Amino acid sequence: MIKKTPMINHEGSVEKASEDNKQQPIKHIAIFASGAGSNAQKIIEHFENSTLAKIELIVCNKPGAGVIEIAGSKSIPVLLIEKKMFADSGYLEELKRYHIDFIILAGFLWKIPSVLIDAYPWKIINIHPALLPAYGGKGMFGNAVHAAVLMAKEKQSGITIHYVDDKYDHGKIIFQKACPVTEDETVESLAQKVHELEHNYYPKQIEKLLYKI
Ligand code: GRF
Repeated sequence: MIKKTPMINHEGSVEKASEDNKQQPIKHIAIFASGAGSNAQKIIEHFENSTLAKIELIVCNKPGAGVIEIAGSKSIPVLLIEKKMFADSGYLEELKRYHIDFIILAGFLWKIPSVLIDAYPWKIINIHPALLPAYGGKGMFGNAVHAAVLMAKEKQSGITIHYVDDKYDHGKIIFQKACPVTEDETVESLAQKVHELEHNYYPKQIEKLLYKI
């Protein structure tokens, strides 16, 4: 009989060593990110000593993006992509070369082509810095989201983790967490609150999902 001993990873979250899980091979993850990369960094750190998943590849469309330096410091290869080629091929061959079986978007702004959505059904997720379906869609990214929330005098905002489909910020919602918007809130203060939620919840939610695939 296999003893079910919980393993604690470095962030203190419990990896349930179920029999199923023990038999499962490690999941190979690609993070698509083209910004500062703070979410990518948290995810990389979360899975650094994990037996569940390994961050194999950072996919980025912006030379000079902060996430490239983070990848370098963690010795994770970066695939720099070009728009037309991405739309046509999704760089599927490259992803297969790294045996990628799950894709995490973390500050990636290009539409995901159907070739990738078809190749990774229910295996591509995104995080959005507001409570979808409000404040999503084309052009709704970064501070534009927070400015719109403040303009509308919302009492709360938050984060949404969702599956990716062929429309911006549209796929099935997996998880949401709200935060209050105060009277004196600014775009910057709201951005900071939302980032804190993202850093706190995205890695843990990813871990939960990975147990199920
Ligand atoms: C995050 O706010 C995320 O919600 C959005 O893009 C931003 C990326 O920030 N999709 P960072 O590059 O991870 O710091």
